[in-house]
Amino acid sequence: MKGIILAGGSGTRLFPLTKSISKQILPVYDKPMIYYPLSVLMLANIKDILIISTLRDVPLFERLLGNGEQLGINIKYKVQDSPNGIAEAFLIGEEFIGDDNVALILGDNIFYGNGFSKILEDSVNYFKIYRKEKEVTNKNGAIIFGYPVKNPSDYGVVQFDKDGNVVSLQEKPEKAKSNFAIPGLYFYDNTVIKKSKILKPSERKELEITSINEFYLLEKKLKTKVLGRGMTWFDTGTPKGLLEASNFVEAIQNRQGFYIACIEEIAYTKGWIDKNKLVEIVDKLKKSDYKKYLESLLKK
Ligand code: TTP
Repeated sequence: MKGIILAGGSGTRLFPLTKSISKQILPVYDKPMIYYPLSVLMLANIKDILIISTLRDVPLFERLLGNGEQLGINIKYKVQDSPNGIAEAFLIGEEFIGDDNVALILGDNIFYGNGFSKILEDSVNYFKIYRKEKEVTNKNGAIIFGYPVKNPSDYGVVQFDKDGNVVSLQEKPEKAKSNFAIPGLYFYDNTVIKKSKILKPSERKELEITSINEFYLLEKKLKTKVLGRGMTWFDTGTPKGLLEASNFVEAIQNRQGFYIACIEEIAYTKGWIDKNKLVEIVDKLKKSDYKKYLESLLKK
């Protein structure tokens, strides 16, 4: 499975923070925002990652993350000329996706919580069919998530049956059919490329991710996984959302002592980089709490 982080957009709601810089470079407490979606793909064991951003901002992400070698992963970059919609990611990423399946995460979505890694791994494995313990083929379909919210009318809303089959999708409905919002994380089979090619721009002139999901719904191949009570999801697209996310990360890290979205820790724990490599990374860092945290991992 390949992974795409969509980190372009105009960031209108965060103006003037976003006047000269990408939203996804802004700090969420102690890390650039993109660390959080990147960590989600890494937790899903996805090692081939495409970052899509604007012509202005791609160089910043390249400076931040390079080719991913320091994390034992491969990172590529592509430009989205203008914010033509989330579903354009599959057109821009066509070559990168090749004949694989793909997970898409929005660069301003932050997920954290108990059991999330398992949910991610299950989502990737959903597409694999094994025979005699050997992966033989791909299962078709798509997975989206449902996150309970008080104000579903502010979101894309998903209604589903007891087996997780999606029954309806609504976009910011006046009367929501469920209280499950759809966060910015999606898993698709390879037909997503074909589907995105036949999309027409919506009234707001965007290629809509909802339209992609509707195609899968029509084929009866759209599943929902519920992100339950133990999970937190933030959309950091507004000043308030950004502050709330920062406060949350600060509280967890300082009370529990675990870092959220420490990408080097994930790479090390998964065995994608060895101890020597982590020592090398730590040695290059100047004094910071982030360095101290990485040093503490080496002592374990
Ligand atoms: P949005 O929050 O919908 O849009 P935005 O980031 O441009 O912000 P605003 O609404 O304040 O103008 O985008 C969600 C995420 O998807 C965000 O990380 C940016 C990204 N995105 C793109 O990269 N390209 C696009 O064409 C769109 C619509 C969004």
